[in-house]
Parts: sequence; structure tokens; C-alpha cells
Amino acid sequence: MWGLEYWANNDFVIEDNNLKVNYKSKPSLLEITDDIRTQGIRGPILLRFPHLLKKQVTTMYESFNDAIKENDYSGSFSAVYPLKVNQFPSFLNELQKQSSKYNYGLEAGSKAELALAISLNKLGAPIMVNGFKDREMIALGYLCAKLGHDITLTIEGLEELHAIIEISKKFPNVLPKIGIRTRLHSTGSGIWEKSGGINSKFGLSATELIEALDLLKANNLINQFTILHFHIGSQISDIAPMKKALREAGNIYASLIQMGASALNAINLGGGLAIEYAQHENKLHKNYSLREFANDVVFVLGAIAKSKNVKEPLIFTESGRFIAASHAILIAPVLELFTHEYNEKSLRLKEVNPPLIEELKALYNTINEKNALEYLHDALEHKESLLSLFDFGYIDLIDRSNAEILVHQIINISLVLLQNNKTPELKKLQNRVQERYLINASIFQSLPDFWGLGQKFPIMPLTKLDEKPNRPATLWDITCDSDGEIEFSSDAPLYLHNVDLTKDEYFVAFFLVGAYQEVLSMRHNLFSAPTEAIIEIDDNGYKISELTESASVLDILDDIGYERSTLLQEFQKKIFESKHIEDKDDTLSLLLTYLNQNSYLRTTE
Ligand SMILES: Cc1ncc(COP(=O)(O)O)c(C=O)c1O
Repeated sequence: MWGLEYWANNDFVIEDNNLKVNYKSKPSLLEITDDIRTQGIRGPILLRFPHLLKKQVTTMYESFNDAIKENDYSGSFSAVYPLKVNQFPSFLNELQKQSSKYNYGLEAGSKAELALAISLNKLGAPIMVNGFKDREMIALGYLCAKLGHDITLTIEGLEELHAIIEISKKFPNVLPKIGIRTRLHSTGSGIWEKSGGINSKFGLSATELIEALDLLKANNLINQFTILHFHIGSQISDIAPMKKALREAGNIYASLIQMGASALNAINLGGGLAIEYAQHENKLHKNYSLREFANDVVFVLGAIAKSKNVKEPLIFTESGRFIAASHAILIAPVLELFTHEYNEKSLRLKEVNPPLIEELKALYNTINEKNALEYLHDALEHKESLLSLFDFGYIDLIDRSNAEILVHQIINISLVLLQNNKTPELKKLQNRVQERYLINASIFQSLPDFWGLGQKFPIMPLTKLDEKPNRPATLWDITCDSDGEIEFSSDAPLYLHNVDLTKDEYFVAFFLVGAYQEVLSMRHNLFSAPTEAIIEIDDNGYKISELTESASVLDILDDIGYERSTLLQEFQKKIFESKHIEDKDDTLSLLLTYLNQNSYLRTTE
């Protein structure tokens, strides 16, 4: 029903009609959510599970080390975590804790990320510096090497190499490693494929590689050139382009050594290891496992090295999405269902109704499995006729409303009765009767890749898991923007339950949101990052730590440059000058209560 077999990687299970974290004492996501909400927190909540970071890091190292052993490969495996994927301290501190067993390093793509890497990386673990660099950033890299870090500056263009040559003269005896990113023919696949290929933004072409080699030799830097780097794009869905890229890079590596790059001993594959986001079998994102990926890397690079009689390269990876995505879940409360206006309770039938309304009533009361299709067609036809009668003034607004409700109800019932009938007509109708669920969250803030790239994330509710959901669901967020919507799509459909929110709470969870989403987030309408918490699970239960509530309204305004004190003075002045407010102190204190709460909605929750 929810596609856990595709996306959940055994991290979550449904047991006793509860969605549980599949680890040690197996707490349910609902009990964790309730626990946090009893502390008065409202709005969306981002839950972080450190054990899932450990699982991903361990699986990555073990898969590559096993492949190396099985293939009798002489090179070793090393990895760095690309900071761009998630730089926030609540994530990064946990990642470093959970990966302490390994010599796991960091990858930086900007000055700020490099500064972070210099301060957080343990000495001895590798630091890779990618992306465009000016002279200051290169000098920062040399400083980092002077501090004793194992740092590699990856050259993205020849101008950077000229800058390195110049700066190396100012730092005699400081020897950062030099990497060169190569621009491969091969590209990845899917949304992020343009990071690779001959027209990509980064890396050196074959001609430039030869020129770089000559420059390194001429300037006595050849012994620092140790790593060949490539990255063909994030979320590589198909293993074939990766194998092609490995063959291309392996041959470049061998040629460079044969041309005099005597210290070259490593290939950095970049990131791109995909995760499975799909909830439906026909929408699977990737066609390989991590083990297959690791085997291919080791086998292809080993075979080329043997055939070209060069040493087998050390293998570096910079996988980010694979490491970070699964550790975080966004839980959003549902605030309202927007087809409630079509509820049977809203019918205002008259003592004497127009004949077509009477006929709709009869269809509604007698529809069953056998007559469903016929009655559905009749209802649709009646609706068209009734709308025309309204346009010509023969029926009033109450009749029109009754017609809309009755037809909507008939469509809903017939879709359930005819659920095995997958004709295009019924599929189209299903789209028409979607339920709109208003969620207390911002898609711009929490799922920017959905907004920008259409990247789908697995979604499911936390309750009613014993009931088959029959409402085709569109999710509306609370931003004032019609792009803040995840529309029902019949080729990857999301069905949710019919819920009476006056009686029951209903939460939807978004999975695999731990990579890129936090840092790409947008403050559209001034919604800030959701409340977040770290959930540590052991055999006896779970512990919530670092519960950080979403920023208050005043904090959000302060953050974009409005002085909190000036704002408060202004509110105070307006209240005390107002002729319409008698209880001025009470009004001010009420206002302060509102402004010190987070910006998500509290009213109906
Ligand atoms: C150079 C480089 N390395 C690593 C990564 C991380 O990629 P991923 O998160 O897909 O593993 C990226 C991201 O695009 C990148 O540009």
C-alpha cells in the first residue's frame, strides 16, 4: 500500500497497524510525534535518527571493503562526506559521532565549507576541496595543510592551477595534495545528469589535462598530484553510465601515470550513489545495489590498471545523498480537508426539488456494484444539464449546490465500487475528485527539491494503517502560493484516508528528506525551518534530545534584518497610542505571546 518494500530499506516497518522505526525497541513514529507535541509544539517536526547515519556509513565502508577483498584489489577505500548535502550542526555532529570508527573525511566546495572542514575534521582524515577557488581559498587550503590536515585541492580549471603554482611559492615546504577533476564524456542519468558530460561546468578536457601535467612537471608540483577526480551527477539511477565513466576515468588515470604523473595513486568517483525514493514499482529510481556499485568500481578500475600495468588506484567516494537522506523524516499535521464542502451533511434539499435533483437523489440512494458504472454516467450527464439550467436561470444556487454534492458523492462511491476497473475514464475521474489535505508545513521550506525539480519523496500517514485509504490526495501547504502543492498524479498516486479532524488527528510523514532539503530551503512567506529533534533509540525505548522549536515570529523577522527592539517599540507605541484599546498591557502581552510562537498555524490543531 505504501511502498515500504521499495523505499524504506528495512528502516521502518508496519506492525500492529503502527508505523515503527525498525530498530531495537521499535518506537512508533506516532508516539514520538505525540511525545513532542505534548510539550506544546505545533507545526511540522523534523525527526533525526542517528542510528540511520551509522547504518549508511557502515554499509558504504563494508560494501567497498568486501568488494576489495573479494576482487583481490590492492588499493584501499576512503570516503569524504560532501558538506553541501547538509552542513547543519545538529546533523554534522551526529554524523561525526556515528562514523568515528572510520577515517571518514569531509568535502568542501566553498570557503565557508572549507573553514568548517578545517575546524571539524580530525587530523588524518582526508579533506577534499572541490569547486571554483580564488587565491584566498587556495591559500586557506595551504594553511590547512600547514595545520597538519590531509587536504587535496582539486583543480577545476587551468586558471586554478596557475594560482596554485603562484601560491605554492609563498608556502615553501607545505605540501597539500593536488587533485584534477576531469571532464568525462560520460554523464549520469536523471534530473542531475548535467554535472557530467563534455559540456559540464567543471573539470579539465583531455587537452587541458595534458597541459596541466606539463605545468605540474615544470613547476615541481608533479609529486603532489595524487588524485584524479570525476563526478557525473547526483542520484545516478542507471549503473551503465557509471561503468562507462569508470572505464573512461580508469584509462585517463593509466595514461597520466604513463605520461609521468608518478605520484598519481587515487581516483575519486565523486558522489551520485542513488537512493530509492519510489513508492510504486513502475517508478523505481535505480537499477543497482550498493554492493553491485562497489563491485563494478573495484572490478573496472582493477582490470584497467592490470591491463595498463599501473598500480591499482586507491578509491575515494564523496557520496552525500546516500549517507544523509534516510536519517530525517518530516512529520506534518493535517489541518483541513478541502472537499468537505461536498459533504452529505451540507445538502439543503427542499420539499420540492427540480426533477433532475430528485433523480440524482435516487441514484445516490441505490447505487451498488452492479449498476455503479451506469449510475456514474447518468450522474455526470445530470450534472451537465443542471449546470446549464443554472446558467439559464431555471434553478437556484441551493439546487446547484445540491447537484454538486450529490454528483461528487456518486463519483466517490462508484470509484470505490469500481476500483478494479482501470479505464482511462475512471482514472480521469479519480483526478477530479481528489481530496485536498492542508498540511501545516511549507513545501518551499521543507521539500525544495519537489518545488524546484519535481523530486518526489515517499509519503504516508501515521494513523489508520488498518484502513484502506480511498481518497486520491493532493497536499496543500500553508504558504500563500499555489506552487505549494503536491498534486495527485495518477501514475504515482497517493491515497489518504477520509478523516474527521474534529475527532482525530492525522499526520503525514515525508521520508528521505535528510539530504539537500534543509540547506536548499526557502523562507517563502517567512516560514522557517521546522521544529527538530534527535531521536536515539535503545532496547528500552527512545530519548528525544536537542529538541529545537521552529523559530519564533520575532526571531524570523530579526533574522532577515529587522531589529527586534525596534519592532517591539513600534508595536508598543501603536498600542499605547490607540484610542480603541483600553487594556493596553493585556493587549501588549497577548501580542508578545503570539510573536514569540513559531510561524506555523496553531488554530485548528
Ligand atoms: C563534486 C561533488 N561531489 C559529491 C557530491 C555529492 O553527490 P551525492 O549527494 O549525489 O552523493 C556532489 C553533488 O552534486 C558533487 O558536486
